[in-house]
Amino acid sequence: MDTQTVLVTGGAGYIGSHACVELLQSGYRVVVVDNLSNSKPESLSRVEQITGKSLSFYQDDIRDKKTLAEIFAKEPVTTVMHFAGLKAVGESCEQPLNYYHNNVYGTMVLAEVMNEANVKQLVFSSSATVYGESTAVQYSENFPLGPINPYGRSKAMIEDILRDLSTADNIIQTKSPWKIALLRYFNPIGAHESGLIGEDPNGIPNNLMPYVSQVAIGKLAQLSVFGDDYPTRDGTGVRDYIHVVDLVKGHTKAIAALESEKFKSGGCKAYNLGAGRGYSVFEIIETFERVTGRKVNYKIAPRRAGDLAECFANPELALKELDWKVEKNLDDMVTDAWNWQTKNPQGYA
Ligand code: NAD
Ligand code: UD1
Repeated sequence: MDTQTVLVTGGAGYIGSHACVELLQSGYRVVVVDNLSNSKPESLSRVEQITGKSLSFYQDDIRDKKTLAEIFAKEPVTTVMHFAGLKAVGESCEQPLNYYHNNVYGTMVLAEVMNEANVKQLVFSSSATVYGESTAVQYSENFPLGPINPYGRSKAMIEDILRDLSTADNIIQTKSPWKIALLRYFNPIGAHESGLIGEDPNGIPNNLMPYVSQVAIGKLAQLSVFGDDYPTRDGTGVRDYIHVVDLVKGHTKAIAALESEKFKSGGCKAYNLGAGRGYSVFEIIETFERVTGRKVNYKIAPRRAGDLAECFANPELALKELDWKVEKNLDDMVTDAWNWQTKNPQGYA
């Protein structure tokens, strides 16, 4: 079989860089398009260092249609993994237009260029944040959607647009239909076991794991635990944390599924990528202290607006149809996050 080329948008970012490693190690050629708005090119040098393979990098914005079309004309792309986008919930409330422009319009430009280049195989980074309020705490793909902030809505809009594209193929009976996997991530944490690539948040982290890590290393003074009076086993919020390396393996599995008999006639389908069990904030802190031998200084603070008490994935569909499940446990996630943090206290800077 010829070597396939995967175009990775946002490939210099946290999850994208881990996907590049997984793709190169699985024998794919990799072409990255990233505008470096939230990443550094050093991550891509590290990807090459880990794999001993090179990739092609274009420092471009996916919204620049002409440039993107030129890249598709030049590179023999067969599949796109689409990570490029903005992802901070609070910022999305302050700058909704920026979020819709980057995420929604950016994906529309990408889809137009793919259509014109007749490259119609796409793996998209969606999020568990697309789900609406629910009485159940374990989320299945058929649960109603109802995101509560502009970031989440941008992901749900993109899912709708991609589903519409796939439906249109049925109407016009095209010979080369869209094949699309919408991967709804739960809470990706951790880093590559080499400690060479990992999450490098700008400024003060919003998410729990990078915050805990920076408290443990002494960059931040104290973690605020957002609420200890939730109806959960210890009162703190419960989430489905998933090792970033497990997560990106779900993406290569998704490519295999899109190329299988199941997607022969095309389609657009959502899959949860999660472990199927949750950990509380206190459990994260305890594991962090045990694995690293460091104290995590914390205080109890009020609940954060928009937070759920508990949420975790039903990952059965991904197991059945993508042949994927998580392999790493919380100790692995914490060990690898800490390895990255201690080897790169200032991130890629
Ligand atoms: P990240 O910010 O580290 O990576 C995103 C990358 O996209 C960055 O390198 C950024 O420079 C690039 N980018 C942004 N806009 C671009 C544009 N218009 N053109 C070209 N490049 C652009 O984020 P991440 O954590 O790696 O997330 C990757 C994807 O996964 C995002 O779409 C995010 O919404 C989604 N996601 C992330 C999480 C999470 O917890 N990290 C959870 C659910 C979904
Ligand atoms: C958050 C976003 C979600 C996004 C995801 C990306 C919100 C409301 N949700 O999810 O849309 O897709 O990040 O990974 O922002 N916590 C603390 N102290 C902190 C930080 C977090 O106690 O300093 C708690 C939270 O209350 C929550 C848990 O830790 O119970 C996990 O929080 P976080 O890592 O921010 O993830 P989510 O809230 O699940």
